[in-house]
Amino acid sequence: MYSEIVPFDTPAAEIAAAKPNGLILSGGPASVYDKAAPQMDPQIFSLGIPVLGICYGLMLMAHDLGGKVVFTGRREYGAGMLHIRNGSELFVGLGNQLDVWNSHGDEVTVLPKGFRVVGTTEGCDFAAVEDPKRKLYGLQFHPEVAHTPRGKEILQNFVYHICHCAMDWTMGSFIEEACGRVRKQVGDQKVVLGLSGGVDSSVTAALLHRAIGDQLTCIFVNNGLLRAREEEIVQRVFGENFHVRLKYVNASDRFLALVKGVTDPETKRKLIGNEFIKVFQQATEELLEEDQRNGDRKHGGYKFLAQGTLYPDVIESVSIDGNPAQVIKSHHNVGGLPEKMHFELVEPVRQLFKDEVRQAGLQLGLPKEIVYRQPFPGPGLAVRILGEVTPERLSILREADTIVQSEMEAAYWYYKVWQSFAVLLPVQSVGVMGDQRTYENTVALRIVESQDGMTADWVRVPYELLARISNRICNEVKGVNRVVFDISSKPPSTIEWE
Ligand code: XMP
Repeated sequence: MYSEIVPFDTPAAEIAAAKPNGLILSGGPASVYDKAAPQMDPQIFSLGIPVLGICYGLMLMAHDLGGKVVFTGRREYGAGMLHIRNGSELFVGLGNQLDVWNSHGDEVTVLPKGFRVVGTTEGCDFAAVEDPKRKLYGLQFHPEVAHTPRGKEILQNFVYHICHCAMDWTMGSFIEEACGRVRKQVGDQKVVLGLSGGVDSSVTAALLHRAIGDQLTCIFVNNGLLRAREEEIVQRVFGENFHVRLKYVNASDRFLALVKGVTDPETKRKLIGNEFIKVFQQATEELLEEDQRNGDRKHGGYKFLAQGTLYPDVIESVSIDGNPAQVIKSHHNVGGLPEKMHFELVEPVRQLFKDEVRQAGLQLGLPKEIVYRQPFPGPGLAVRILGEVTPERLSILREADTIVQSEMEAAYWYYKVWQSFAVLLPVQSVGVMGDQRTYENTVALRIVESQDGMTADWVRVPYELLARISNRICNEVKGVNRVVFDISSKPPSTIEWE
């Protein structure tokens, strides 16, 4: 079974052309009577494709098909008991009653013609309804939340019994299909990919390498703001193990000269982002010259740029009234490459979520070290050095960061958290070492858990672990005499400090 999320206003013709086995209309906070409420193309209900409307999806279906939806003024919120009747295929194998979770304001009071009730709750006579002839189904409650313990089975009944989907989608079949799609898209043309060493670009590189071999060239830019040994790991994994054609560009001096004396966070980010585009462009031109020198005369230039765009990025870039997701995302991408360089994009993992991209990485033979690594921002350590970025401060932070990572790994915490890293503050304080007074730097420790980076909380790691990290940093990193622990959540703070 394979699923995709599409915008609510996708036209019926487009849906019909995609030939889905079934559609699920998600819930949402709107009332069908709100002016700005998402409306769908009502023709979709006449396509003969099974539809399951959940909460707002049910309201919309009832409203569009001639039933009656009213705002009763009383919100039904919280746990309820669903009494099942009339033997709907939705509830096969689920008995006569189920714990369910409700959260709605509007209520269906008259069903559209052809519909019948298949489940009721105390507060709602139309908690589950269906028109099996037209294959239309609706649930007032939320089967997708953990508080509806057997909700997953209801969804499975819809997907397997009503939509007749097969359980044959595996990561292996995805990889083969994705390779086929890439080959079809790029033909015998060449593709470049900006490899950062992060999970998404690494998996994209491995997948493209499997699909088109030497037609792929990865460009790895060392901007001088990387963690310790980063360039070595990437070159070893991709160059030596995978034999990917890898162009390593050491542009450290360029970047460090550029950010010299800069303390404003946004200026740092912009300078680094723009410079990356220039370096990348230059590297692509050099590659072309190299290829031509090596006798590839047919080479018409690099037209394709591969990117590790994931499914959440695709969803977030669909702007729904007032949805700030797009704004949040813009600073997270390497940014601007496709627009400025007129590349055609190759995005083979755009249908995957992070956990799936990791699975794909493992199947493609990437080491755990790459597949399960924590996110690292594009502007690198520059946004973890508050104030001016200098070679000395970079070296202090790199040493502290290495200690954080190795202690987190040794305590089996590294893979349990979203991110764990050190931040170098522009604050000096008094300390004592041996019999000497010191006046040195402060390092802040940031350890957070998160699902997607949009919200986060600090992790309650054991004191012993904090103590070890702090002791080691103060003892081993010259120039640091104090370590503090960041106990802020996001929001109102962000994960990175700049
Ligand atoms: P913030 O600091 O906004 O970060 O809470 C959320 C997540 O995004 C990562 N991050 C970035 N990733 N380029 C990236 O690829 C960037 O410029 C960037 N800035 C922040 C951050 O590490 C966290 O996981």
